Amino acid sequence: MTLFELSPSLQHAVTPRIDRAIWPLTTQADEFGRLCVGGVALTEVADEFRTPTYVLDEADFRHRIRRYRAALPDVDLVYAGKSLLTTTVVRWVAEEGLGLDVCSGGELATALAGGMDPARIIMHGNVKTPDELRDAATAGVGRIVVDSPIEIAFLAGRVRRFQRVLLRVTPDIDIDGHRAVSTGITDQKFGFALADGRAARAIKRILDQPSLELVGLHCHIGSQVTDAALYGEAVRRMIAAMADVRAEHGVVLSELNIGGGHAIPYVSGGQELDLCTLADFIDDALDAACAAERFPRPRIVIEPGRAISGRAGVTIYRVVAVKSQPGGRTFVAVDGGMSDNPRVGLYDAKYTVALANRHPLGPTQPMTVVGRHCEAGDEIARDVVLPTDVHTGDLLAVACTGAYHHSMASNYNMVGRPPLVAVGNGCSHELVRRETITDLLARDCGWTNPQPAPPRHDTGGCDALLRGI
Ligand code: LLP
Repeated sequence: MTLFELSPSLQHAVTPRIDRAIWPLTTQADEFGRLCVGGVALTEVADEFRTPTYVLDEADFRHRIRRYRAALPDVDLVYAGKSLLTTTVVRWVAEEGLGLDVCSGGELATALAGGMDPARIIMHGNVKTPDELRDAATAGVGRIVVDSPIEIAFLAGRVRRFQRVLLRVTPDIDIDGHRAVSTGITDQKFGFALADGRAARAIKRILDQPSLELVGLHCHIGSQVTDAALYGEAVRRMIAAMADVRAEHGVVLSELNIGGGHAIPYVSGGQELDLCTLADFIDDALDAACAAERFPRPRIVIEPGRAISGRAGVTIYRVVAVKSQPGGRTFVAVDGGMSDNPRVGLYDAKYTVALANRHPLGPTQPMTVVGRHCEAGDEIARDVVLPTDVHTGDLLAVACTGAYHHSMASNYNMVGRPPLVAVGNGCSHELVRRETITDLLARDCGWTNPQPAPPRHDTGGCDALLRGI
């Protein structure tokens, strides 16, 4: 009999608080204090797949989709694959009845390999090469979102079959967020400005192409949007733009895609975009704008990524070293870092960290969890409260790493990218395997210049170099 069986209140006292708003739905601590997700202890995942590893809770992923369905039953749901995409994720998305947004040849290929019906795929991207446009159209994708004038020419010239398209416009809405993720303003690279007639000119060019059918407009106002009213404003401006298209060309567009960007919390108390409030704002804005313009209600499409995949993921790391510096900070160094999580450096993102292999007994203190890369800024989380006895070999779990982690990982310092392991019903399965050093070296082609190297000069230094030029 364990100590905790003898005294259940002791277990309660030392079990880390699992904030359901941040950790995957199925997270719990077992009697040994080990964090479990999908019925699997993270220590077991670490033993089998080593660390760092991205862990993905299938139940959480599916649950988030079902919450969207319940809150927005009249809205078409399209999952943004850029947040996290593997063939299995594609299958989950298809089984849950969603469409899929892709933005590269690689994402398109993954979508098709995962069995997504091409008609349910939307092809995005501010740079789509002529080959990508041709491949998307040949595959029969349901929509291509036109993002620059040259794409209209490419599509008209190269695409043999009839293609439905949307036009991406910028409604000039500033989400007041990080510059890098505010995409609905005019002064950034995406889409066509509504304000100065650029969108109107692109619409005319598309309507002039017999092989293209313009079915609607698209906008994406940015990331981590917490204020649902901004989507209401986007709907109002977009309906006004659709009414302008009708007035000018006699064409009634039937589809309005308002993108994704729905915020989720990464730390306790962090704000989340409330889906019922979003539904209300969309509905009210549609009612008002359609009545004002006497415009028929279009089909509304949304493209959440992070709000579906984000909380399903945790990353597990092994503690390699712990050191205190004279300034007072204690650094807990783990075996991953900015190569598997570039978001701290890019967006100053904040994360929640928990000890995952044992009860956090004893006193705690704020610590900085840092990565293994050669950059002072390679931090995973600052001032997270961990037990003072945290030591080499402990396992840490970082919450909310399902979105834009696996999909944004790099090989910095020639570190292989972590595997992605799905968990559910007490089972674990590798969705993407770890990238090995052999994988990394396999891409290194090497080269020996067939021209003999210039003779070495023992004297002359810079002069000799200059003579050689
Ligand atoms: N639709 C479009 C056209 C998008 O560009 C995006 C995200 C989405 C939907 C999905 O947005 P979500 O619901 O996942 O926020 N790397 C950044 C996020 C950049 C997102 C770019 N576009 C990050 O790590 O926060």
